This record gives sequence, C-alpha cells and structure tokens, in this order.
Amino acid sequence: MALRKIICEGDPLLRKRSREVEEVTDRIRTLAEDMWETMYEAEGVGLAAPQVGVLRRIAVIDVTEPAEPEDDSSDGGTDPNPVPEPIKYLLINPELVEASEEMAASKEGCLSVPGKSGLVERPARVKVRALDIDGKPFEIEGEGMLAKALLHEIDHLNGILYTDIAEEIEDIESK
Ligand code: NI
Repeated sequence: MALRKIICEGDPLLRKRSREVEEVTDRIRTLAEDMWETMYEAEGVGLAAPQVGVLRRIAVIDVTEPAEPEDDSSDGGTDPNPVPEPIKYLLINPELVEASEEMAASKEGCLSVPGKSGLVERPARVKVRALDIDGKPFEIEGEGMLAKALLHEIDHLNGILYTDIAEEIEDIESK
C-alpha cells in the first residue's frame, strides 16, 4: 500500500468525468487499498479516485463514527477502544438508484477543499448500487451521514465539488 497525493480544487482533473471500471483487476485493487490508506491518513470519511488523480469510478467511504482522533496514531495495529459497527464501503462504478424527495441540509467538507466547510442540501435517503472488490454488485440504502457521503463521492466521479452546490461556505480552523 502507498499513500497517494490528494489534489485540490483548481486542479482540472477534479472537474472531469471519471470512467467506468470494466474489470476489477489487481491494479484496481491496489488503487483501492491506496485510497483507504490515503483517506485514513488524511482523516477523511470519503475519498474518490479523481481526488488522487485517477479518473476511474471508484470511491471509499467510512462513516463509522464522527472522527475523534486520539493521539495514539503511532501504532497501526491493536486498538483498545471498543469498535462500533463499521459503516464503510468500497464503491466501484457506484450509481444512484433512488433518492428521497425529502432533503436534509448539513455541513460538509472535502479533502480536496482544505480549510473550508459548507452547508449542503441533499436527498435525506438514497439507494446506491455498486460493485465490490470482487466485482460483485451490491446495494446500499443509506441516510444521514452515509447518504451524504455516497452523494458527495458520486458527485466527485462526475466532476462536481460540494462547493458547487453549497449554500454557504466558511473557513474552518486548520488543526
Ligand atoms: Ni470530497
């Protein structure tokens, strides 16, 4: 596994439509592993392949819990804390199948738009179909953080950033 460089708003690659994955090859699996590692290193809850400069329809999401990082990051292995049920997905060729008419507005950020946060209104519940790491189709129904993350990452694959649709964008303190 290797960390990949996250590109930022202003880079034209973020504005392109990513291509479908035709076959889940070892190269795609390596990319997915790198994306997990890169997302966790950056303390994000989602990352799409175009954010690491690869225009393929792949995203990773982990909305297991609000990020409350503790300063024991030096060991990558055992975690003494109780682990909540994971809510994490690798999505290959994700497609929005259903979206609720009901909308929900909440704050979003993006690893490609550092130091900013914005209020975004999106469908409150969605159903998404995608392929997993073995190339098998699966469906996810999500609401709340999960729905938001799914929509945010699918947008990335279509060259859309949350800042395009946010009602207001504000600076947030960097750590
Ligand atoms: Ni993003």
